[in-house]
Amino acid sequence: MGDLWFGLEDRVFVVTGGSRGIGLEIARELLRQKAKVVICARKQDGLESAKNELQGGDSLLALQAHVAKEEDVNRLFDAAVEKFGRIDALVNNVGMNLPTGALVETELGMWQKIIDSNLTGTYLCCRRAGKIMREQKTGRIVSVTSTAAHRASPGMNIYGIAKAGTEMMTKNLASELAPDNICVNAVAPTMVKTGFSEPFWSNSEIYDMVVKNIPLGRIAEPEDVVKVVLFLASDGASFITGQTIVVDGGSAVI
Ligand SMILES: NC(=O)c1ccc[n+]([C@@H]2O[C@H](COP(=O)([O-])OP(=O)(O)OC[C@H]3O[C@@H](n4cnc5c(N)ncnc54)[C@H](OP(=O)(O)O)[C@@H]3O)[C@@H](O)[C@H]2O)c1
Repeated sequence: MGDLWFGLEDRVFVVTGGSRGIGLEIARELLRQKAKVVICARKQDGLESAKNELQGGDSLLALQAHVAKEEDVNRLFDAAVEKFGRIDALVNNVGMNLPTGALVETELGMWQKIIDSNLTGTYLCCRRAGKIMREQKTGRIVSVTSTAAHRASPGMNIYGIAKAGTEMMTKNLASELAPDNICVNAVAPTMVKTGFSEPFWSNSEIYDMVVKNIPLGRIAEPEDVVKVVLFLASDGASFITGQTIVVDGGSAVI
């Protein structure tokens, strides 16, 4: 990916949802930059295959954890600190969606599942990491949100609400944690080529419809998101906090 980053060597990163998709690519690039990386996911088999693929040796810790479960989050951060001694950056990459209809027809259980993984999980990780970083008097938090946070779209209503909540959490945390030299930002991509959105981009009719609204003429690759996340976690972004960087190929301007 080229040597674009500033000072990631030996930094300790917790990347939630690192077993596939964007999170896996963030972990891969971090290891290439000689950072220490902790990834988590709900499913052990996904973590095992990520571990085999990444070959991170002693610089990689892969732990099963559901980010919306407080005890799992505590266990994850305790293990990260025990192994690497500190946490320099948290990347809240976990995200999921389920098929939903109109909000007024939605069951409470569906609302809770989507809010839990996308918003409550991010809150629990920020809370735990924020306390550790406050003691260290330094840290970075970067959350992956979505352009679904910025406009209403069918099937993405609860997901978009959760991501919009994460962007507001980013502003509040940026303000609260700035005195302790902790920067908090978000990255909001449009459709990215991962398994998460495959049902859409693999359908040529849907793909063409989506790309019609993207001036750069394609959907995002995971790498497009990785670059911005790592920039925000690097020394290059030391005076940026409370921002959401939109990675949408120009959609917002047309
Ligand atoms: N792909 C897109 O088009 C797109 C567009 C805009 C924004 N985003 C955002 O980008 C981020 C990454 O998406 P992606 O496309 O890489 O998704 P993905 O390929 O589905 O990967 C999601 C990762 O998160 C883990 N995960 C999901 N729920 C979890 C939970 N509650 N606790 C712990 N781990 C959990 C998954 O593993 P397990 O299933 O084993 O838990 C997996 O490792 C998400 O925040 C997503 O909302 C994606």
